[in-house]
Amino acid sequence: MTLSLGVSLPDRFLIRLLESMENIMSDLTSSLRLQHYDQPAMDRAHHRMTALLGAFPRASEEALRNLLHQLMQTASDHFDQEERFMLATDYDDYETHRAEHQHFISMLTRFKQEIELGKTPNKLSLYEQLCSWQDEHQQSWDDPLAQHLRHTTCWKDS
Ligand SMILES: [Fe+2]
Repeated sequence: MTLSLGVSLPDRFLIRLLESMENIMSDLTSSLRLQHYDQPAMDRAHHRMTALLGAFPRASEEALRNLLHQLMQTASDHFDQEERFMLATDYDDYETHRAEHQHFISMLTRFKQEIELGKTPNKLSLYEQLCSWQDEHQQSWDDPLAQHLRHTTCWKDS
């Protein structure tokens, strides 16, 4: 089955889809899972990224290009938002966390360029690399940021 994109789903449907996808995808990789930080903006963005990543293994070549484009846009918006949160709360690890974001964007850019040059990507390898980055990043960088935001009294999530 090939997934086609371009449909915008309301958040409640997206969450249900993600929850069922999480079980299916656990057969393919152990690193695609939902994180809940109780930070609505971060959670929404992570869920969208997870949904996009979950579509990689079954995407056609054309859908893969679209997926990479959407993932890059979603990730850029999400990273910008997290970086604004960090700056607004004088977060100590801003520079290192931002460098991690830039690394992910570089990975996506490289994959996009390879496809544009006519190389056929190994979708599962691509998927594993992106999921591994997301899982590692969430545990090592986003979890501490979410804890910081929860305990920063001047902070209001939007
Ligand atoms: Fe992050």
